[in-house]
Amino acid sequence: MSLKNTKNSFGWISIILHWMMAIALIAMYFVGDWMVGLDYYNSWYKTAPDYHRAVGIIIGALMVFRLLWNVSQVKPKHLNPDDMRMNKLASATHYLFYLLVFIMVVSGYLVSTAKGQGVDVFGLFEIPALFSDSDDGGELAGDIHKWLGLGFILLVAMHAMAALVHHFKYKDRTLKRMLGLD
Ligand code: HEM
Repeated sequence: MSLKNTKNSFGWISIILHWMMAIALIAMYFVGDWMVGLDYYNSWYKTAPDYHRAVGIIIGALMVFRLLWNVSQVKPKHLNPDDMRMNKLASATHYLFYLLVFIMVVSGYLVSTAKGQGVDVFGLFEIPALFSDSDDGGELAGDIHKWLGLGFILLVAMHAMAALVHHFKYKDRTLKRMLGLD
């Protein structure tokens, strides 16, 4: 299998980006949900949000790279070209994923910087606070981050279920080709 996509299959770069983002985003959801419940005396109280923010920024950068990579590649053909409804639904789901991840990164950035503090990325560099000074804005961004996070994880569950239905019920190559096995 090649590094680049072909008309029939995904290349390794697309496959690695897909699974790396999937693991990182699912972990981000559960870490985010866990860390907001930590009490002040827990040893992770400060470190977990620091890591969550830093990994979130890296995910944002990776997402931009993935988008650029995708537009530079041929799109492998739909496996069931006659099923227009399913193909449209699959494409809409992919766009929705990009939109949700984008909003999660931006709202996470806004909630983190609402009080004027930048986002430190593992001590390597800092993303400055550009739109601070409004507590209300920070609160709104926090609500968006919380509820779209929930929407995002529900979409992940649906997406995973759809992949399993393709694999076990329709017995097509949808899952196998994203695993690099076909
Ligand atoms: C990229 C995908 C991301 C996912 C899936 C995600 C998920 C979550 C979740 C589920 C929570 C818990 C929300 C709650 O119950 O109140 C949370 C909290 C939080 N996230 Fe994220 N997050 C992401 C990106 C980011 C980024 C990029 C940043 C900052 C640069 C960030 C900063 C925060 C902060 C500061 C909180 C705590 C908010 C509060 O205390 O109300 N997140 N995140």
